[in-house]
Amino acid sequence: MTLLVATQFAVGNDGPVENVILGVHGGLGESPGVLTPEEEKSVIAGIEKALRAGHTVLTKKQGGSLDAVEAAIRILEDDPNFNAGKGAVFTSDGRNELDASIMDGRDRKAGAVAGVTNVKNPISAARAVMEKTKHVLLVSKGAEEFAAKAGLDIVDPAYFRTEKRWKDLEERRKKEREQPQSRLDPSGFLPDEPATRHWSTVGAVALDTAGNLAAGTSTGGMTYKRYGRVGDSPIIGAGTFADNATCAVSCTGHGEFFIRWQVASDISAQIEYKGVDVRKAVDTVINGKLKPVQGEGAAIVLDRKGRFASATNSDSLWRGWITADGKVVVKLYPE
Ligand code: GLY
Repeated sequence: MTLLVATQFAVGNDGPVENVILGVHGGLGESPGVLTPEEEKSVIAGIEKALRAGHTVLTKKQGGSLDAVEAAIRILEDDPNFNAGKGAVFTSDGRNELDASIMDGRDRKAGAVAGVTNVKNPISAARAVMEKTKHVLLVSKGAEEFAAKAGLDIVDPAYFRTEKRWKDLEERRKKEREQPQSRLDPSGFLPDEPATRHWSTVGAVALDTAGNLAAGTSTGGMTYKRYGRVGDSPIIGAGTFADNATCAVSCTGHGEFFIRWQVASDISAQIEYKGVDVRKAVDTVINGKLKPVQGEGAAIVLDRKGRFASATNSDSLWRGWITADGKVVVKLYPE
């Protein structure tokens, strides 16, 4: 793969922020200067809407952390600004294949779906897998049939298409065509070029009044991914993790690295075995472990005391958090 010099990655951390009950991310998003001010406003509004929806569940409706995670992620899946649900990126053969997972910090129960093409809100399918089957992960047709039987919204695959993502695919296809064969990897693809790609995977971490944590993540994956490719988002321990004893984590970034480095569970392990705080834990893994190997990405973390942190080794991370008393912070880039 193409090696990048370390200075191409900015270092950005938040936290620990106190009294947080819900954090969300909209992925790495775009680099500073790419979006117009109107587009930035639209992304910020989407993140704030997700935070407020989850906050309402946790406070006014007295819902649990799983309910808040699901509610927040459904908003982001329905918003074409984000690479999850509507607005998902395309595979190399021009389809949208969606992945999602959710985890309950009380008992490490988890559910996930991968490669679904017609489930409107994959996060709800992930939750249904967790609550209505004995399994953790269902894929493609089996997951789709299960979601339909579970009464979830099924849509025509064309529902997920947006012109922006289609244009991204066409640009990538053109680039592949124009490359000399010598630049292609053994499977016939261009080597990965993390700094030129942005993953807008979405995710949420929540803490309810009973002190229970939950985490969830949903994505369309990576533009031009080989069909059938599954990233980290539906892999428990890689893209998503939650345990009341440590923290809730949702990740975004170059999925293959997040699987190989087991990023979400490693962040939890930093807290479990070293006793560090959420900020140190997420920074150690995102900047200390992934950055030296050019594993581009980020994570958000929340612990049982309501301490929130995030870290990115890229030049952006769309994220926000909300406190119990309704104070919202949204940021798009590292500071
Ligand atoms: N992190 C999303 C993916 O690689 O699919």
